[in-house]
Amino acid sequence: VNPQIESAPASCPLAQRFEQVRAQSLRLAEPLSAEDCQAQSMPDASPVKWHLAHVTWFFETFVLEVFEPQFKPHNPAFRVLFNSYYNAVGNKHPRAQRGLLTRPSLVEVLDWRQAVDARVLHLLATPPSQANVSQKMSQIADLIELGLQHEQQHQELLLTDVKHLLFCNGLRPVYRKSWPLAQVAPVALRWLEFAGGVVQIGQDLADHTSPGKRFAFDNETPRHLQHLRPYALANRLVTHGEWLEFMQDGAYSDARWWLSAGWDWVNTHHVDAPLYWTQHTAGDASADWHSFSLHGEAPIDPHTPITHISYFEADAFARWKAATDPLCRGARLPTEFEWEAAAAPQEAALRSAGNFIESNALHPMPVARTPRDAADGQTSPLLQALGDVWEWTSSSYQAYPGFAPWAGAVGEYNGKFMVNQYVLRGGSCATPRDHIRASYRNFFPTDTRWQFSGLRLARSA
Ligand SMILES: [Fe+2]
Repeated sequence: VNPQIESAPASCPLAQRFEQVRAQSLRLAEPLSAEDCQAQSMPDASPVKWHLAHVTWFFETFVLEVFEPQFKPHNPAFRVLFNSYYNAVGNKHPRAQRGLLTRPSLVEVLDWRQAVDARVLHLLATPPSQANVSQKMSQIADLIELGLQHEQQHQELLLTDVKHLLFCNGLRPVYRKSWPLAQVAPVALRWLEFAGGVVQIGQDLADHTSPGKRFAFDNETPRHLQHLRPYALANRLVTHGEWLEFMQDGAYSDARWWLSAGWDWVNTHHVDAPLYWTQHTAGDASADWHSFSLHGEAPIDPHTPITHISYFEADAFARWKAATDPLCRGARLPTEFEWEAAAAPQEAALRSAGNFIESNALHPMPVARTPRDAADGQTSPLLQALGDVWEWTSSSYQAYPGFAPWAGAVGEYNGKFMVNQYVLRGGSCATPRDHIRASYRNFFPTDTRWQFSGLRLARSA
């Protein structure tokens, strides 16, 4: 931060949070070289340098340009280069060619970050002189909070994009060396029953500046009623070991388990394992499978939650399990409403127990057997619902009844993507802990695998 510019007082919670979140993005880039930060491994993934620039663009475009007196852009060209998808802002650099942006350099992007940080903090410290000051400050605070939530989303993308990039290199470079996996006793799959009925889903319109209210994205609103039949959820996530059993039983070569579009996808792309799995010696499906993580390549651990699977794979697994395991008759994916109704009452405990980016595992972790599990099989809590992996649901991503996108250009944030995608719930090992909540809706197309996506089984009671 430029010390010559007056900053918001350190006691301002939003200024503190701003500095913390901005610093976390830089920390995530620390293990990487400038070359690592430049490359783009596929159209879905962006270079780290682009992420660092784009989240800065968000503050410059949606906060400074609107509210800073005598605003001048740091560099007018950046408005186009680092616009992701906002048509209301104007032209965009093509998404698939972000890796070709060798200029500005990483150093120039970091300088831009520092300059924008100083200007945002200055804006927070100096209320505008015009009329409606308190209304303006509230708008500024709302947009800064949105910018921080946006940056936290990009922190997760930064890690998943880096993972894909490093996997594309035959050297299998390691992002972080330590391997935190501990040996634990597996937790048996149990069914947790829920009565259903009429349940409240979602959040009231976001108004995080009022005391006691928290941030929510517009796609989580408005809070509304849903009717659920009685249902059950598995107490824990599906594991790598269970996935190996699925593969040993012919998973990827048995059309019975697959949706038609999923079967086409398997055959067109010759899919025979989750993303990042490699088999070191030819043989049967159980032999010598390794998977790549941000800690490098290692043999499959059977107790860690399965991850990097598509919607098609998650759905196929549930069908296979329903048909082959007497304990799992009727197994299917949960709806997003079943998931939320089960997780919301336990949100605080789930968040404090969850494996998030702060734990530095950067990989889903096995659940340890808890005393409660050992003592009472019937009351075992919902495990791993927040953190570890995003859980595919069978709900297609669409607007809640009464949904209205935010006003202005930020109205393009979520609403325009409500087609051809499915909802995932719960956050992952790459999600910041204070970013996730039970009502949070992530969404991806059915063949997406590079996020930390996994599944939990459900069934009707
Ligand atoms: Fe973005």
